Amino acid sequence: MIDRIYRSAVLGVAGNKAVESVVRTRGWSVAQRFVAGDDLQDAVRAVEELERDGVHGILDLLGEMVTSEEEANTFAEKILAIMDALDGKPYPKYVSIKLSQIGQDLTTASGENLGMVNARRILTRAQHIGAFVRLDMEDHPRVDETLAQFRELASEFGTDTVGTVLQAYLYRTEQDRAALDDLHPNLRIVKGAYLEPETVAMPDKADVDAAYRRLTYAHLKAGNYTAVASHDESIIEDVKRFVIAHGIPKSQFEFQMLYGIRRDLQKRLAKEGFTVRAYIPYGRDWYAYFSRRIAERPANVLFVLRGMLKG
Ligand code: FDA
Repeated sequence: MIDRIYRSAVLGVAGNKAVESVVRTRGWSVAQRFVAGDDLQDAVRAVEELERDGVHGILDLLGEMVTSEEEANTFAEKILAIMDALDGKPYPKYVSIKLSQIGQDLTTASGENLGMVNARRILTRAQHIGAFVRLDMEDHPRVDETLAQFRELASEFGTDTVGTVLQAYLYRTEQDRAALDDLHPNLRIVKGAYLEPETVAMPDKADVDAAYRRLTYAHLKAGNYTAVASHDESIIEDVKRFVIAHGIPKSQFEFQMLYGIRRDLQKRLAKEGFTVRAYIPYGRDWYAYFSRRIAERPANVLFVLRGMLKG
């Protein structure tokens, strides 16, 4: 409950335009702990640096909830440029996108969902260069549409090219996971990062943690590829025990973490022979992402305030 109060306080303050303007002008030096840089070159550099530690990268161009067709198409072009930059690289090519970033809320002149039009362009290119694209999961009003669109895209491009994310904090998620089983999807399991009402999301962290374990175990047991995306060491240790107990091979799952968080743990797991990927966000639209990272951990507020006072 305390966690929810803290998260709602931070995300409530973050929504204030005056706070946003101060943080946007003075907070960049602090945001760089979580964001790899302004442009694609910065992000590719971060991927290559992680590769030296045996950790793979997931490129994420920051931006979400786009309301104009022009902006959505610009984001799609920039994501296609990521594919160009990754083409021919010797390491795994992996990109995360948000459907709301490429037009999920918009309809084209011919009546199609712009997010789907752009997603198909991106996935066609990804398939061509052997890249994997993950559809991030956003706030709860988008879950139905995102899952339906994922199903459509997975049947067109295959689950080796596209995957999505399930959030343990939503009451609905265990059912959603079971309903996707026929696809044998590659799913990333997360706890959930948005400020959601108690009617749809569990307010207590202990319940979310328990739901996280149930979901992860169910997905692994069903024989599906699972990206265990958490920095929670007790969960990571439990997953390690679970896979040994159930004879699940290392090739059926991986650990994922965020850029700038628990790099020691990322390296350690990679050394132990697990596949580890770090989510590397970059770009100018860092404010919403940064706010969610601050809302996850009280100590981060002090880190931000200290950094901004210094800056
Ligand atoms: P938890 O919050 O319990 O933290 C466990 C420990 O991790 C903390 O004690 C601390 O040590 C460390 N930690 C966690 N967050 C930190 C932070 N911000 N700063 C410093 N330390 C921190 N969410 C979503 O809704 N949709 C999505 O698509 C995604 N995608 C995604 C991809 C990847 C690769 C990851 C790792 C996470 C996401 N998330 C997400 C975010 C996710 O929902 C969740 O908010 C964060 O991962 C934090 O939860 P943990 O599981 O790490 O546990």
